[in-house]
Amino acid sequence: MPDTPRLIRRPEWTALEDHRADSMLHPQLRDLFATDPGRAERYTVRAGDLRIDYSKHLITDETLALLQELATATDVFGLRDAMFRGEKINTTEDRAVLHTALRAARDAVVEVDGENVVPAVHTVLDKMSAFAEKVRSGEWRGHTGRRIRTVVNIGIGGSDLGPAMAYEALRSFTDRELAVRFVSNVDGADLHEAVRDLDAAETLFIIASKTFTTIETITNATSARDWLLTELKAGPDAVAAHFVALSTNAEKVADFGIDTANMFAFWDWVGGRYSFDSAIGLSLMIAIGPDRFREMLEGFRIVDEHFRTAPAESNAPLLMGLLGIWYGNFFEAQSHAVLPYSHYLSRFTAYLQQLDMESNGKSTGRDGHPVDWQTGPVVWGTPGTNGQHAYYQLIHQGTKLIPADFIGLINPVDELSPALRAQHDLLMANFFAQTQALAFGKTPDEVRAEGVPEELVPHKTFRGNRPTTTILAPELTPSVLGQLVALYEHKVFVQGAIWNIDSFDQWGVELGKILAKRVEPALTEGAEVPGLDPSTAALVATYRTLRKQ
Ligand code: F6P
Repeated sequence: MPDTPRLIRRPEWTALEDHRADSMLHPQLRDLFATDPGRAERYTVRAGDLRIDYSKHLITDETLALLQELATATDVFGLRDAMFRGEKINTTEDRAVLHTALRAARDAVVEVDGENVVPAVHTVLDKMSAFAEKVRSGEWRGHTGRRIRTVVNIGIGGSDLGPAMAYEALRSFTDRELAVRFVSNVDGADLHEAVRDLDAAETLFIIASKTFTTIETITNATSARDWLLTELKAGPDAVAAHFVALSTNAEKVADFGIDTANMFAFWDWVGGRYSFDSAIGLSLMIAIGPDRFREMLEGFRIVDEHFRTAPAESNAPLLMGLLGIWYGNFFEAQSHAVLPYSHYLSRFTAYLQQLDMESNGKSTGRDGHPVDWQTGPVVWGTPGTNGQHAYYQLIHQGTKLIPADFIGLINPVDELSPALRAQHDLLMANFFAQTQALAFGKTPDEVRAEGVPEELVPHKTFRGNRPTTTILAPELTPSVLGQLVALYEHKVFVQGAIWNIDSFDQWGVELGKILAKRVEPALTEGAEVPGLDPSTAALVATYRTLRKQ
């Protein structure tokens, strides 16, 4: 038996179950606001530039107090401090978890195994900056002497989603003369579409892979090298001017044929999904420039400091984590929607899917025992107004409880014309209207008062009580993006700490990788694959039969 009490046997857990059964069986947001008009103000916290209103949740002061007691009992802040100190809290991989050191100030000290890692972080940042400036200024030349016009980042998972998301988010800060494209899928169509209209002489490939063994990335990188050499009609000496690597694995980078002088390093204490503010962000840095990149790092740091020092009752990541626990564990909510009202944040939720689901999609506790409580939710969502015309129907009137985060910006980006800037009010009117409708709905009497025929009243009634968090920021700057990402990183941390799981490993992705390696020879050479189940064996046979050579 583990030495600490199982989560669901803790008195703080059963107190929450009792609270739900006794006082919060059918909570009504209309009533909660009517009896507590101060809750909008009281349930709003600030983290840097982010204003987070969580008043439209099915909670009272008592709920929050009980959730905080659970956080205290599970020592969330103790684990947080251990993380910031560089302790090896990723126990299944025996690694420190120090993405926070990636944005530490130059004079900060963060030790792993007795060594201060901050100088190395800044050495790499400086090297990235010098390289990014060379590419941006045109000083970096391709093999034929032409300047670089397109950067293609080849990576997958954490080596793709972060920079791809941030490039979209910060597009208005990018050098519009320099395009960045992202290739992740091992489907050859991805690389084909990315390079088909490019001039190889003006193309730089960034091969981003922490391990430099990921089959998708190495396969695409090899194909990209072949494409480049064919297009340039050049030998392997052309590679140096067109390929750089971002990795922790210098040996594999050299084996691939990339000069390690053109490698930008990071470390095993940076998890893939926590890595886009490391060297993995090089494509982004080239796009927005080193100064903007550092502004983004400062944004991360603002929320790191907030998480580290804000008291529990105003600690935004803690509160957001606790709210997720409230719905996931006490209301049986299975999913969590993240709905940005910003075109620039169109990839934000996709990025969060890896951050959250690869971190907290676990069913074995840190103690090695199976958990007997729900862990990470399904995270989903797309930009808000598009979602309104697709799946919001289900959020408003479906049978499932879907807590949602609404992310909105008070100002559009500077670059928009006055006419397009004016559209921002309409966008934000939708933003505010939706959370109001979700929370307060429309009663049958309100529907009748509009003269709706009685038989349609049930159809036009909105029950409301759909919980939402509203996150408002002044505008989408690099700093604000860093703040938003850090907010979610730490929210995920809080939940993993309470669920007693290791949020920093990802063993669950291994089995599929191993099986794919085993199946591939059956597809390409018709080789016998021992141990294939009858369903998969039949599917493979059909594939072989119908495959065009
Ligand atoms: O999906 C598994 C995973 O290991 C992720 O955690 C990681 O972000 C991704 O693969 C890519 O790994 P690498 O950067 O080593 O190529």
